[in-house]
Amino acid sequence: MAKPQLFDVKKIRKDFPNLSVKVHGKTVVYLDNAATTLKPQSVIDATVHHYSAETSNIHRGVHYLSEKATAEYEKTRESVRAFLNAAKSSEIIFTKGTTDSINLVAHSYGRTFLQKGDEVIISEMEHHSNIVPWQILREEKGIVLKVIPMNNNGEFSVADFEKQLSPKTKFVSLVYISNSLGTINPVAEIIKISHRQNIPVLIDAAQTVNHMPVDVQKLDCDFLALSGHKLYGPTGVGVLYGKTDLLNKMPPYQGGGDMISSVTFEKTTYNVLPYKFEAGTPNIAGVIALKAAIDYINSISFENIMQHEQELLDYGTKVLTKIPGLRLIGTAKHKAAILAFVLPNIHAHDLGTLVDEDGIAIRTGHHCTQPVMKHFGIPATSRVSLAFYNTKEELDLLAASVKKAIKVFSPKL
Ligand code: ALA
Repeated sequence: MAKPQLFDVKKIRKDFPNLSVKVHGKTVVYLDNAATTLKPQSVIDATVHHYSAETSNIHRGVHYLSEKATAEYEKTRESVRAFLNAAKSSEIIFTKGTTDSINLVAHSYGRTFLQKGDEVIISEMEHHSNIVPWQILREEKGIVLKVIPMNNNGEFSVADFEKQLSPKTKFVSLVYISNSLGTINPVAEIIKISHRQNIPVLIDAAQTVNHMPVDVQKLDCDFLALSGHKLYGPTGVGVLYGKTDLLNKMPPYQGGGDMISSVTFEKTTYNVLPYKFEAGTPNIAGVIALKAAIDYINSISFENIMQHEQELLDYGTKVLTKIPGLRLIGTAKHKAAILAFVLPNIHAHDLGTLVDEDGIAIRTGHHCTQPVMKHFGIPATSRVSLAFYNTKEELDLLAASVKKAIKVFSPKL
């Protein structure tokens, strides 16, 4: 972990131009970071710089600009490698995002190595992007999907996982931190147990890599998926980390330019890792700007990020649970800075609209986790998801706005 700098939230906020935007005449209070994080100026600058001074395609030209763009693109690969502590940069594949990364594994690994009757374990708190690709595979191949149930705090245990394991289990795909509950799952333990049966494990780290350090070698996960835009980077770029031996065994996910080493009408041979999985012109500017995002996070340090976000989580929990009738959804012992809740008599969408009038951005709905809503018997929650640039003052503004909304719906209170 990098040596922590002095953490000055006021100074940090100046790096995010979006934080001074006015919404309905008020400075925005941005509490929707699990949907997407705001971008520091350095990420915006890196994007603008690529398009204004270094536009070119990569891996395709001998001219200066193409070589420059290729070098910058590959620098990000090395930066992601270091960020995740992967053994090799060729284990870092650029995708469109977490959804794309999971689909890559389900299609390429799943179609090739999973057979009818093989069991894939997921959990009740998965995002739809870690449910639907496996259901598509179930329709195609006849695999069996097993689901680890959670309790009413939004937690599952290692023992709950072990109950789903069987000699037929051939793959495990789990979310590290739940986007709708904030629960931090015991993935390290689950990976260890799965490996005793040689079962590969994919970790959905979309909501993790912005909150805490992730070391893929220490975790020993076989695959890990993340999105750039949840990491203070651009949209449309993500990463699939995979272990070399598995990636080498897997067929390409998509065919096209850059992923081949030779093509004739009779036979095509595929490129080496990681290019085998990067067909077509990628999001070059996005990948290049992702390095700026990682540099920015490293400059703040996870030690500072975790400490500040924990303080915000504790404070947010305190101010929200003081509101009469408010029920938190997601009360796990180990959780990240996500606070989802329901209120009696107010639908989440109505609350979202009312707090928006105060310039406050929260996400309302099922958060692409309909099975979580079903578990709690609710249609939707209001979700506050925090980042290191948020403040206690913003949480006070939220609490005041929620109380005001309650008065609109229950004037007698
Ligand atoms: N999965 C993202 C969220 O939780 C979009 O909001």
